[in-house]
Amino acid sequence: MSKTSPVIRRVFMSRLLPQSGLDFLTQKGVDVTVGQRDDERGLDRPALRQGVSACDVLMPLLSERVDAELLALNPRLLGIAQMAVGTDNVDLSEATRLGIPVTNTPGILTEASADFTWALLMAVARRVPEAHRYTAEGRFKIWGPNLLLGADVGPGPDGRQKVLGIVGYGRIGEAVARRAVGFGMRILAHARNRSRVEADPKVTWASLEEVLKQSDFLTLHPPLTPETRHLISEPELRSMKSSAYLLNLARGPIVDERALVKALDEGWIAGAGLDVFEREPEIEPELKALPNVVLAPHIASATVETRSQMSLMAARNAWAHLQGERAPNVLNPEVYDTEAYSQRRALLAP
Ligand code: GLV
Repeated sequence: MSKTSPVIRRVFMSRLLPQSGLDFLTQKGVDVTVGQRDDERGLDRPALRQGVSACDVLMPLLSERVDAELLALNPRLLGIAQMAVGTDNVDLSEATRLGIPVTNTPGILTEASADFTWALLMAVARRVPEAHRYTAEGRFKIWGPNLLLGADVGPGPDGRQKVLGIVGYGRIGEAVARRAVGFGMRILAHARNRSRVEADPKVTWASLEEVLKQSDFLTLHPPLTPETRHLISEPELRSMKSSAYLLNLARGPIVDERALVKALDEGWIAGAGLDVFEREPEIEPELKALPNVVLAPHIASATVETRSQMSLMAARNAWAHLQGERAPNVLNPEVYDTEAYSQRRALLAP
């Protein structure tokens, strides 16, 4: 009897993921190539092209453009397993047309992302970064009655409930709302899926205009789509209260960043907490200099436990792709019924 050597499956991880995912795949005998191990550097396009061409499954990150040109490079590619909930960097319809299943990591990062929304909300309203610098730089000489005054988040001394406006009411929007209940806020939400908002007793559905007008804090949680690109531009910012704060932890292009700079500089709104940027990682230079913003480098889901679970979830999806099985978190399930997918799967060695 002739012995057949086991088939080696190859995964290309554009950049190094947390160990859990790497361990999962290597324990299954998968040959994992990592394009970039330095966490502070991206992978250049030629290296990405090369990696895609020589793998069975691609594990990209949101920092890479997975477009038609890249997808066309490898007729054997069995799937894409991205470690993120958002996949606007991936051309999903082209992937479907070519018979490539695409997966993300939904749900697992909801609570960490909602926590960080609140971290930025509190930080900008109560001026935490400024307070830290003031103290660390040795400027704290005496308690001051006018020192670093911020905005109330819970009801102020007059008892007025603050209004939290949520645009985009998916898992993260809902988790942000849950936390707002503890601050006694009135919660307005606007989302494409109106029935989801209306089914939730802790929030009230409102038009975008109404949410913009009434919010003391406005937080954005829709996916980035052609409809949500520049959803918040000059007219929207001008219609907000001058005492309001804007939070964006979804995707940068949802906000017109030039308009936001003007709004913050000229006092149309009081401040902003931003974890994402329109031309990430580039940031409008004025944003860095303004005193009424708190900036973060896209870290809403960045907790040890969450990132470890995201990595594992992405690896499980990659493994399903490699097996030619329906992946747990597939975004384009219709792909499995296509001729293009069957052809790819047929190339899968036994
Ligand atoms: C992060 O932005 C994600 O989409 O997971």
